[in-house]
Amino acid sequence: MLTQAWSPIGGITFYRDSGHTSTLQDPVIGGIAARHGRTPAQVMLRWHLQQGRSAIPKSTDPRRIAENLDILGFELTGNELAEIDGLDTGRRGGPEPTDIRLAAFGRPVPEA
Ligand SMILES: NC(=O)c1ccc[n+]([C@@H]2O[C@H](COP(=O)([O-])OP(=O)(O)OC[C@H]3O[C@@H](n4cnc5c(N)ncnc54)[C@H](OP(=O)(O)O)[C@@H]3O)[C@@H](O)[C@H]2O)c1
Repeated sequence: MLTQAWSPIGGITFYRDSGHTSTLQDPVIGGIAARHGRTPAQVMLRWHLQQGRSAIPKSTDPRRIAENLDILGFELTGNELAEIDGLDTGRRGGPEPTDIRLAAFGRPVPEA
């Protein structure tokens, strides 16, 4: 089974009034990024990739789109993966997967 990451670089942590701390500002992720000479977004995307998740970040900025694709030239260690795993608060940013129902989330597509 392929798991898909929603908000793969933590968009949900800084959109709207989420009340979260932005993952882009997280000191653990920032420290790992500094060690590899990468950005926090690249570290989070590499973490997904190495753990086998599908991750499609959203960006409207061509420079950040290129940055988000450039994650093949470095590798996180097992300890670094575990450090990021350890940041899990158990708090869900999006809806519960079991709540995703056509009745609640379905939208008409006039062109279809
Ligand atoms: N949020 C959900 O609950 C949810 C649910 C289902 C599906 N999805 C889908 O998942 C995809 C992404 O989710 P998302 O938009 O919530 O969050 P995301 O991809 O984790 O974060 C997007 C945010 O990060 C910024 N960003 C992108 N690359 C960056 C970088 N390298 N450095 C710093 N900031 C960067 C973007 O701003 P700029 O555009 O200005 O770069 C945008 O504000 C979308 O296609 C969405 O439709 C989301």
